[in-house]
Amino acid sequence: MADGSSETKSSNQMWGGRFASGPDAIMEEINASIGFDKKLYAQDIRGSIAHATMLAHQGIISAEDKDKIVHGLDTILSEIDSGAFDFSRRLEDIHMNIEARLAALIGPAAGRLHTARSRNDQVALDFRLWVKEELQKTEKALTGLIAAFLDRAEEHAETVMPGFTHLQTAQPVTFGHHCMAYVEMFGRDRARVRHAIEHMDESPIGAAALAGTGFPIDRHMTAKALGFREPTRNSIDTVSDRDFALEFLSIAAIAATHLSRLAEEIVIWSTPQFGFIRLSDAFSTGSSIMPQKKNPDAAELVRAKTGRVNGSLVALLTVMKGLPLAYSKDMQEDKEQVFDAAESLELAIAAMTGMIRDVTIRADRMKAAAGSGYSTATDLADWLVREAGLPFRDAHHVTGRVVALAEQKGCDLADLPLAELQAINSAITDKVYGVLTVEASVASRTSFGGTAPSEVRKQIAWWRARN
Ligand code: ARG
Repeated sequence: MADGSSETKSSNQMWGGRFASGPDAIMEEINASIGFDKKLYAQDIRGSIAHATMLAHQGIISAEDKDKIVHGLDTILSEIDSGAFDFSRRLEDIHMNIEARLAALIGPAAGRLHTARSRNDQVALDFRLWVKEELQKTEKALTGLIAAFLDRAEEHAETVMPGFTHLQTAQPVTFGHHCMAYVEMFGRDRARVRHAIEHMDESPIGAAALAGTGFPIDRHMTAKALGFREPTRNSIDTVSDRDFALEFLSIAAIAATHLSRLAEEIVIWSTPQFGFIRLSDAFSTGSSIMPQKKNPDAAELVRAKTGRVNGSLVALLTVMKGLPLAYSKDMQEDKEQVFDAAESLELAIAAMTGMIRDVTIRADRMKAAAGSGYSTATDLADWLVREAGLPFRDAHHVTGRVVALAEQKGCDLADLPLAELQAINSAITDKVYGVLTVEASVASRTSFGGTAPSEVRKQIAWWRARN
């Protein structure tokens, strides 16, 4: 990109009418957004073509000028696509870079494009189109991640692992059930994405600077041409509003937070101490000094990128919170936050989808851990309620004594002799051993949404029909 330093100081060619000399270098630097908003070139050109076409249709500009404008814009699109376009910082932003190039290509007709339009509605349009496309990409990416989880959940509907609360073994669950928890989380993220697309599906173009315009424009026509449901209904709000960007960032922050929790579990599960999973070589790295190590770098970076995404949300909320209506230049700071968050989120979802598809599940290790820590103690208490008619509170107390005994003897609940169990409560029979295994424990939890393999399979089927 040309930084403009070699260009002579002269008043800006787009709005320089009332300025005697050009901006000094620092002003130029703080003012310019071309360094990042050039990302919006395709949206800017698409918006301008729709606007010019509407202007001609309404008799505001001639068909001849419109043809020149559209042809010139097509040329600029291929120039930028091919890398041949020379961006100038003196021209501030993508809108003025394109318009200046159009003037160079087609002459005075270029000056008619900005009729009944302002950069305020133009940038609102370009950015909205960009965010909408990004949301559509995010929706697809989440669908891919959910599909990866559904496959692993199906494969491991019966694989028993410890379920945790406070990161302490709580009750046995199935790995399939744990996977389906993430399906629910990413499914909600995707629902938020879909809702945001609906929400933002209104066209800003034609709001002009803030008050609308006296030219007989047709905003419904441009809305339709640009794939929006309808035009926005208040021109002041249209150029003031960045809710669509804030919604994108909020959704991204929640999704990134979900990804980060998953990343944390992957980090923990892949330690030799847990050993629940083995990461593929593709998603781990070695240590330059310790030959035995295999580090979960991809998971750690997914966890860390959440910090950037959450930071972007807070940054833009903070930019917006003090702004009076309508447009203020502060709003130019919206783009880098969204671009950075979008890039981080896309990469994090892609990395996670790869990791979930590739990871080796060590079912033997999971099962061994599931049985430790007296994880079936609740099953014993439930059995005492069901079979011996004890109130749950009493059953809880009896079970506590059984656990204490096992602890003292250094054995599992299922290894305690019947006579010793009966010494604690005479109602206990040998049938109790049937509920003390981890398989029996998970199989018994058939309540809707519970961990029993039969129930997990039902939830997988529900999601498959919707993914
Ligand atoms: N580069 C500007 C932005 O991103 C475009 C809008 C400029 N509008 C204005 N009135 N200065 O916000």
